[in-house]
Amino acid sequence: MIRRKKITVVGAGNVGASAALYLAERELGDVVLLDVVEGIPQGKGLDMLQYGPVSRFDSRIAGTEDPAAMKDSDVVIVTAGVARKPGMSRLDLLAINAKIIRAVAQNIRAHAPGAIVVVITNPLDVMTYLLWKETGFPPERVVGQAGILDGARFAAFIGQDLGVSVEDISTLVLGGHGDDMVPLVRYTTVSGIPLAELMPQDKIAALVDRTRNGGAEIVKLLKTGSAYYAPAASGVQMAEAILKDKKRILACSAYLTGQYGLSDVYIGVPVVLGGGGVERIIELKLAQEEKTALQNSAKIYKEAIADAIKVLEGK
Ligand code: 2OP
Repeated sequence: MIRRKKITVVGAGNVGASAALYLAERELGDVVLLDVVEGIPQGKGLDMLQYGPVSRFDSRIAGTEDPAAMKDSDVVIVTAGVARKPGMSRLDLLAINAKIIRAVAQNIRAHAPGAIVVVITNPLDVMTYLLWKETGFPPERVVGQAGILDGARFAAFIGQDLGVSVEDISTLVLGGHGDDMVPLVRYTTVSGIPLAELMPQDKIAALVDRTRNGGAEIVKLLKTGSAYYAPAASGVQMAEAILKDKKRILACSAYLTGQYGLSDVYIGVPVVLGGGGVERIIELKLAQEEKTALQNSAKIYKEAIADAIKVLEGK
């Protein structure tokens, strides 16, 4: 008899494997690691299973190439796709990853029709939209990971600069997962203290800038790929909020239907994330310049969505 939750991670590359490991370590459920490359999911899955006795977790991990193994998953985390190389923007991955996401969506629809899907594949906001469209799921059951990662980067830099614990830092980064992201400094606090009371404006601006380019900074260093520990952990944090019905307020890429003056687009906004997926979208009263930044960000992804749909239609 199985009473545990079940999570499938699609893609056994660096992000997918890290996500599977964090899920198992936290015993959030049993984990299926799925990939099309023969042997890789099985090998990594077996290695992680053998890590269980060392780290003292009982979550089962199974690697496979068979999409039917995702049957009855409560949550599916999608990491499949190609990562950036130095000099590439996330949008440069559009055509290749759109085709991969379409195939993944078909498998999810066929084998895990009741799942809530967390998308990590880049370009994030576009791939989340495509996965939603291709599964035909209600939008509250398809959500993208990016705001947590971007907010975590900002928090890491703030903690380092102030010499204080990251545990007390609360950030909020909205907008698309790209250089156009919208870090809301007004809502950034350290133990409730607004950041502006602790740091001069020019320093804040420098950290915001480093956050915007946080992904590219790592791509440049790694040379052959992009970040994976923090992106995977951010996706797992979302899965945890869903699996435990925590109703956390997190910045996630969600489908908008008029909020912030935007519709028919996925973009990073604060949401209540719980057992039903995106249970509520929180509409903040943004300052005019913040609202304009969010709308400009959404414009980029609307255009990219149109491009991706053209790719899929073979035009
Ligand atoms: C990043 O920002 C991979 O998009 C991810 O590092």
